Amino acid sequence: MFPFTFYNPVKIIFGPNSIPKITKELPINANILITYGGGSIKNNGIYDQVVKALSNHRYIEFGGIEANPDYETLMQAVQIVKEKNIDYILSVGGGSVLDGSKFIAAAAKYEGHDAWDILSKGAAVKEAIDIACIMTLPATGSEMNGGAVISYRKIKQKRDFGSPLLLPKFSVLDPLHLQSLPTNQKANGVVDTFIHVLEQYLTYNNQAEIQDRWAEGILQTLIKIGPEYVHKPFDVDIASNMMWAATSALNGIIGLGVAQDWATHMIGHEITALFGLDHAETLAIIMPGVMDIMQHDKMEKLESLDTNVFGNRTKPFNVKATILKTEEFFQNLGIKTRFSDYQIYEKDMALILNNLEIKGDIKLGEKKHLTKEKLTEILVSRL
Ligand code: NZQ
Ligand code: ZN
Repeated sequence: MFPFTFYNPVKIIFGPNSIPKITKELPINANILITYGGGSIKNNGIYDQVVKALSNHRYIEFGGIEANPDYETLMQAVQIVKEKNIDYILSVGGGSVLDGSKFIAAAAKYEGHDAWDILSKGAAVKEAIDIACIMTLPATGSEMNGGAVISYRKIKQKRDFGSPLLLPKFSVLDPLHLQSLPTNQKANGVVDTFIHVLEQYLTYNNQAEIQDRWAEGILQTLIKIGPEYVHKPFDVDIASNMMWAATSALNGIIGLGVAQDWATHMIGHEITALFGLDHAETLAIIMPGVMDIMQHDKMEKLESLDTNVFGNRTKPFNVKATILKTEEFFQNLGIKTRFSDYQIYEKDMALILNNLEIKGDIKLGEKKHLTKEKLTEILVSRL
């Protein structure tokens, strides 16, 4: 196990009907900006609950943050934050609203000339506005981490950044909020969470027993509850477990002291930037390819996945069958797993390669063995 330092101070407020608790969490003298997305919170009653909880607080609103939050939209909010002296942001929505809010919080305090440098050049976040969230979609884990992913549609790029300064002060996780989610967003959430775990688990054995068993526990849970969460009528216990699975997958704990991959995410981000697929849709295409083409690096963990997660006791272990089980899990949730399912063809692969090259040298994966040649093999294998 590698040495590590772990710090995660996010206060989690979990359970049905939790929104009234934010009244006491938000400083009474704060100058708050409530951020939200395309309007789902106005249709499902969450907005009304928030407004009620803030009846004695001072706040203004910024709505319209799109899925895969766009840099230009967020810069409009930065302007408002500066003009109105906002000192607290309350994000109400899914991962996109929260990620966008994290960027607003950092960009409003950025002293450089161009805030895009935070994303394109990794310019340091030295200060940020306080932020908290009501997470309405279990998927990204953004509610308990300091990371964010921002899109810039004009230049067809998507970049991530992060800072401990962007860890939410608190996050409200109310499983009842998941009742209004469309089926495809539920499926996206299961797939994204599953792949967050694989990015940290499916590398090589680093003798991190606790982390590996935690990771397997999350994967087992998703296999058990995922289909019911997506396809059956709402059940508060299923929703609760899904919410906690998503948070647990990307709050840092399962990644402590282990090698991490994240190649699937890096490739997936470019596919969203170029072709507009949902985040999880891109991951479901790429992950089976990474498992296959990089199997030599991952063999021991592929076998653990097969035995400890899929429960296969038959030996010898068959790597192709394990990859197929993973792919079928995504498909059974209703998520497609091939480029051709989205009318993306061989001629488009050069665009993905080019976008990844713009980011820098292509050497991805836990051992940096995923070179441009391997990447090409992965992409072609998923047509
Ligand atoms: O915009 P609104 O009206 O809010 O509707 C949203 C949106 O259309 C809707 N929605 C959210 N909660 C709902 C709801 N509809 C009904 N009822 C509810 N309770 O769902 C749609 C998708 O929302 P979005 O926030 O885009 O989804 P998600 O949470 O999956 O976030 C995706 C973004 O997060 C990034 C992705 O790249 C993508 O940009 N990621 C962030 C990570 C992080 N910060 O750690 C890690 C992830 O790997 C990921 O990259
Ligand atoms: Zn993800």
